[in-house]
Amino acid sequence: MTMHTAVVGMQWGDEGKGKIVDLLTHDHDIIVRYAGGANAGHTVVVEGVKYPLHLIPSGILQSDKICIIGDGVVLDPMVLVEELQQLDKKIRKRAKLFLGRKTQLIMPWHKIRDGLSGGKLGTTMRGIGPAYTDATARRGIRVIDTLSKSRFKQAINDGLMINLHLIEAEAKFMGVEFDTLPKLDKNNILLEYWQACLEIKRLGVEIIETGEFLLDAEELGKRILYEGAQATLLDITHGDYPYVTSSHPTVGGLYHGAGFRPRDLSVVGVMKAYCTRVGEGPFPTELQGKQGELIRERGGEYGTTTGRPRRCGWLDLVVADYANRINGIDGIALTKLDVLSGIKRLKIAENYNVDGKIIDDYSADVEQLSKVKANYSIMDGWEDKLGKASVFSDLPKEAQKYIEFIEATLGVPVVLIGVGPGREEVIFR
Ligand code: IMP
Repeated sequence: MTMHTAVVGMQWGDEGKGKIVDLLTHDHDIIVRYAGGANAGHTVVVEGVKYPLHLIPSGILQSDKICIIGDGVVLDPMVLVEELQQLDKKIRKRAKLFLGRKTQLIMPWHKIRDGLSGGKLGTTMRGIGPAYTDATARRGIRVIDTLSKSRFKQAINDGLMINLHLIEAEAKFMGVEFDTLPKLDKNNILLEYWQACLEIKRLGVEIIETGEFLLDAEELGKRILYEGAQATLLDITHGDYPYVTSSHPTVGGLYHGAGFRPRDLSVVGVMKAYCTRVGEGPFPTELQGKQGELIRERGGEYGTTTGRPRRCGWLDLVVADYANRINGIDGIALTKLDVLSGIKRLKIAENYNVDGKIIDDYSADVEQLSKVKANYSIMDGWEDKLGKASVFSDLPKEAQKYIEFIEATLGVPVVLIGVGPGREEVIFR
């Protein structure tokens, strides 16, 4: 067993990372979110009570843990306040939460800009892209700027000034009347956001230098779990650009987002037994007809953050192999295998055909991907529901073969299999 674990998505998000993180939390002391923002979403169910979380690591429900929102995250202070207040209404004692001081803030102007430009990409409209854009353009506001009111006021003045120009230009480009957009008043923004900052502190959140904190923790022998949001194919560099998010959800993003290089790290890649995608972008194994609808209904494939129906398709091992190359996966957590029960013949994409040529490397080139046709291996399905299976040999022979085929193709062991929605409906190998 390694000291530290990273959990990364191997597809387009929504692989069920929340449940895997929840299971692994027990073996770790500290849980770190290292990238993304309130565009993520998972619902943790504890003793029948649902806790929908978009920003805070799910480890927050266990009072003996420490949770960290790392510097690679873009933080919407309003969402943080809302999530903490909701949690405090439902649970007596939660984990302590720390916040990286270099974390960038999502401001109201980012959501307006996302509303203008994000539509054609199908973003979650949470202001993620514009907040990262401002960060990269070196005009963002960071947690460190909220430590004094005068500094925060200055940062808001500067941020608003440039953003009003950007919004006006973007609205013009998109053919939207500037006057129809929400009004931005700097005094109101300062008042509201300063209040939110005070509330965050009142709720016990402490601001830290994340990397230093983690290094000290490592020296004390603490085990750290890195919770990735989104997934490899949504990575700003390695995903299907431009149909991607604006952060690095891959394992490389961990070093950057946590400001720390953990020794002795193992990487768990989370992969659904089929594929889904929300928003626009390529999807070589997408199922358009009844079969896709069946998987969507049985898998409950609707967005946690936006409620949008997810596009569904067969498992794609070209994608999985690419995710393995980028992240160096030590073990796969294969989720939602039960959703495939009752489908007579299952397909798994092994490679693609482009203009008569076979390719087995995921190019992430949107233009090429629009032309590919997936080549499938056909596998026999199984009838039985899987919920009762607790060891690998309990699974129907066909389900075992499905898993062994994945392992043989990728050369990576499947270490965990999800056989139902409950916390206990899982097989460890
Ligand atoms: P953004 O992250 O809101 O900018 O959205 C960019 C793309 O990433 C869109 O296609 C979103 O649907 C997708 N996306 C962002 N977060 C998630 C997630 O947690 N699960 C699945 N897709 C996501």
